[in-house]
Amino acid sequence: MDYLKIKGKSALNGTIKISGAKNASLPLIAMTILARNSVIIKNLPDVADIKTLLKLLTNLGASCDFHDDKVVVDTASMNETKATYDIVKTMRASILVLGPILARFGHCEVSLPGGCAIGQRPIDLHLKALEQMGAEISIKAGYIEARAPKGLKGCEIIFDKITVTGTANIVMAAALAEGETTIINAAREPEVVQLCEVLNASGVKIEGIGTAVLKVHGTAGELLDIKEFSIIPDRIEAGTYLCAGAITGSKLTLTDVEPNHLGAVIAKFEEMGFELTLTKDTITIHPNKEIKPVKIVTQEYPAFPTDMQAQFMALATQANGVSIIEERLFENRFMHVSELQRMGADISLSGHTATINGKCDLSATDVMATDLRASSALVLAALIAQGETNVHRIYHLDRGYDSLEKKLKDVGVVVERLKEGL
Ligand code: UD1
Repeated sequence: MDYLKIKGKSALNGTIKISGAKNASLPLIAMTILARNSVIIKNLPDVADIKTLLKLLTNLGASCDFHDDKVVVDTASMNETKATYDIVKTMRASILVLGPILARFGHCEVSLPGGCAIGQRPIDLHLKALEQMGAEISIKAGYIEARAPKGLKGCEIIFDKITVTGTANIVMAAALAEGETTIINAAREPEVVQLCEVLNASGVKIEGIGTAVLKVHGTAGELLDIKEFSIIPDRIEAGTYLCAGAITGSKLTLTDVEPNHLGAVIAKFEEMGFELTLTKDTITIHPNKEIKPVKIVTQEYPAFPTDMQAQFMALATQANGVSIIEERLFENRFMHVSELQRMGADISLSGHTATINGKCDLSATDVMATDLRASSALVLAALIAQGETNVHRIYHLDRGYDSLEKKLKDVGVVVERLKEGL
């Protein structure tokens, strides 16, 4: 197992190229199950979650050729429909294959993902929607068994809660269903928008893209011809590096980014007193002498993303005054708090709300990553801590941050990846 040793207090300067979005890549790779042709996807991030999903597709009989940032996926040879526990347990988003496999083959088995560090994360809404489309679903020995021998039928689905992977799963199932599926209270995240746009360009008419009501005109089982496309920039990776610039008081420029996807995040930096310069595909953050405290409530897009909550908490430890962060999406997404406290942060928790008393001097120590975004908060804290911080269990970071140490080193961070126990 690897860990990162990060020397604090280095001044950063330079440019970071943002990779393709992990959370857009996952549904778009699952979507290749709906294709009759071999699909070329560009600008994929080199992160563990992508490799996990490609391995899952390979286990199902597909061929996946991933080089640099490009993959060619051919699902014509798929002859298996069971996503087994060994893969699903390492990545919950494996559930994204359920909709497309069921739509194409009429049956599918996917291991139940179970809980995770940030909460229970049920998938009841995915299953209920597929049942409304005519699937028979049962849970046996830890597996979801779904059958739709006569194919899926379009219908009206009202999601009780906005769910990102739930919306993606149902959009993909609806793409091959017979008739029209209307999804009400659909997720509007840019990653869902890209999935809809690619499907739309592949012959599946989708109305309402980017709104809370999607109307998907299914092909009644006809497989799709999917043209080459390129993954949108990772807005969470971009937000994380903007936090790196902000917390260290450095000027950093991000390239290959989509500022329009970061509206709520940019607004919070501005509330904290930071100046940002935007172009069509770059963002520069400028140093700020005095960081103002902030109030943040995490909500669905276009509001402030839960995936940026931990990083802003690290930043809030350096604000002059009391910041409040309320987490509305996941019941247990404060695992980073105790590690930040160990570094000297003054944070108190009450239910879903964290109160951060700034400004605190942080000191380096050994800290443990608990989930993907919590880990990045610890890296941010390490950048300004006095001394050398060891961030352990960085396999969480490797799930979602492409070339993290290289990108940090290139802008002046002294960081090393080391093996535990050596
Ligand atoms: C996706 C993102 C994740 C992000 C999250 C919220 C991917 C691969 N992951 O996760 O990074 O943090 O959106 O923006 O894109 N819920 C139910 N029943 C369901 C489904 C969801 O109750 O069937 C609840 C969840 O427990 C949670 C909320 O709905 O409280 C939102 O979850 P959801 O949008 O589904 O998150 P994911 O798609 O898993």
